[in-house]
Amino acid sequence: MQTTILGRTGLTVSRMGMGAGGPSQIGKKAGLTESESADILRKAFDAGVNFVDSSEGYGTEPIIGQAIQGRDRSSIVISTKKSTRKKKITPQTLEESLHQSLQRLGTDYIDIYNLHGVVPQDYDYLVSDVYPTLQRAREAGKIRFIAVSEMFNEDKTHTMLRKGLQDDLWDVVMVGFNILNQTAREAVFQKAIENNVGVQIMFAVRKALSRPEHIKNFVADLIEKGQIDPEDVDVENPLGFLEASAVSLPDAAYRFCREEAGVHVVLSGTGNPDHLVANLESFDRPPLPEADVERLKHIFRNVDSTTGQ
Ligand SMILES: NC(=O)c1ccc[n+]([C@@H]2O[C@H](COP(=O)([O-])OP(=O)(O)OC[C@H]3O[C@@H](n4cnc5c(N)ncnc54)[C@H](OP(=O)(O)O)[C@@H]3O)[C@@H](O)[C@H]2O)c1
Repeated sequence: MQTTILGRTGLTVSRMGMGAGGPSQIGKKAGLTESESADILRKAFDAGVNFVDSSEGYGTEPIIGQAIQGRDRSSIVISTKKSTRKKKITPQTLEESLHQSLQRLGTDYIDIYNLHGVVPQDYDYLVSDVYPTLQRAREAGKIRFIAVSEMFNEDKTHTMLRKGLQDDLWDVVMVGFNILNQTAREAVFQKAIENNVGVQIMFAVRKALSRPEHIKNFVADLIEKGQIDPEDVDVENPLGFLEASAVSLPDAAYRFCREEAGVHVVLSGTGNPDHLVANLESFDRPPLPEADVERLKHIFRNVDSTTGQ
């Protein structure tokens, strides 16, 4: 497994990170028991993945707690989050949430603590009213680095992060990026590189890229919206040209994201042990051929209306 340095945090992280949320929640949504889900994480750790992302809202923090038991705590980088959507956060609610996350994870520190799914309209109050509590938690050693994640489904062109990166308050950001929606390249990655901010990406593989039959419908819809030029694609098999260089669409999708300048960790969530093995193999494969990458950039250059879900 390739590793990299997560920007200004200085942490050495695997390029593949395990996502413990998303549509699968490491199998929780498919009915796996906590110990079956923990086995998936253990297999990933044994294969060289050292990064895992969760949130207080996913219900998967206890699974991570189980999976790290008996391991050197410093060998795993844990990212988790405080929800920001349902009700206004106060310093007290943040402190309580952090305490509970630490208990569920069975650890006395969190490496990367994120404000979760921040929408543009909440950004200012979170910085003025909540950020100082995060700083105090960092000073107390309960968290090591402060991060923010966007609400990609509602903020498909990264309005919150465009603003957030001007402030230079965040050690790490979590961004939506994939073959279909590449808007983060200009909106986020350029500034993140300039400021040496760590970048973890989500949505590398969602519905559109999980199975070939889906991509055809997504592309038809984007042609209809005027965001893809029909001259650029075979509408029957829009990404068929990748069959020569990638073993599957998810394989192409993960390798495309991994090579993007500014991206450190590509999150990958699964509850399916076969998918885990396939995804680990994808992260070991070489970059996609440059001609394929350029073609993907060209086809989807005007797309900003979908997350791929
Ligand atoms: N706003 C936020 O902060 C936010 C929002 C969303 C996600 N996240 C974080 O980002 C992580 C990644 O999220 P994501 O949106 O990219 O989704 P994800 O959690 O990575 O889920 C990937 C989806 O693709 C499927 N899949 C995985 N590998 C596959 C393969 N090889 N072949 C076919 N299907 C495959 C999975 O289903 P199977 O279980 O069947 O494999 C799952 O449905 C999350 O787990 C979470 O930690 C954060």
